[in-house]
Amino acid sequence: MGQVHILDHPLLQHKVTMLRDKNTSVKEFREIVSEIANLMCYEATRDMPVEEVEIETPIAVAKAKRIAGKKMAVVPILRAGLGMVDGILELIPGAKVGHIGLYRDPETLEPVQYYCKLPNDIAERDVLVLDPMLATGGTASAAITFLKDYDCRHIKLMSIIAAPEGVERVRGDHPNIDIFIAALDERLDERGYIVPGLGDAGDRIFGTK
Ligand code: URA
Repeated sequence: MGQVHILDHPLLQHKVTMLRDKNTSVKEFREIVSEIANLMCYEATRDMPVEEVEIETPIAVAKAKRIAGKKMAVVPILRAGLGMVDGILELIPGAKVGHIGLYRDPETLEPVQYYCKLPNDIAERDVLVLDPMLATGGTASAAITFLKDYDCRHIKLMSIIAAPEGVERVRGDHPNIDIFIAALDERLDERGYIVPGLGDAGDRIFGTK
């Protein structure tokens, strides 16, 4: 059974508050999203397997730990997920990056995939799906379903702010997935925005509004 991890380290709380502030500039917003992803990545990778190796320090031979060759992929959901990629790659430079683009069909309201480019060996990688705002959860859930269709077995979801509705949706559809968030907000409004949230994350990252 997957878990919901609310990462409430003071640094994360402080940075999320800066994101929420409508007076935060696009430049600052983009930088902070990346910093938050970096800090969250530290926690989301806590269960990475390590192996013992023997190395020589300048002083002595020592048994030491290193990451046991696990391969990772990060998969941002377009477009706001892109803002989280660099922060993750700073810690895990060897991770491959896949991209999934989904839009909501205005009639069926179902997510429709319009773009997908994944590493060839995605099924062998631990996958971290990135979507800064887990609102209805429809998009994140569809992206996870899609990755499962590619035989991905180890998937985690990382969102900065979530609505209870989004968490419930993903947990209902994918009970085995660990979800990492920095804040669980009150609710969704009638337009599907998270309240209090931070507005449209994509617009605030890319300055399109
Ligand atoms: N997507 C956003 O960018 N913001 C929300 O509040 C909900 C979905």
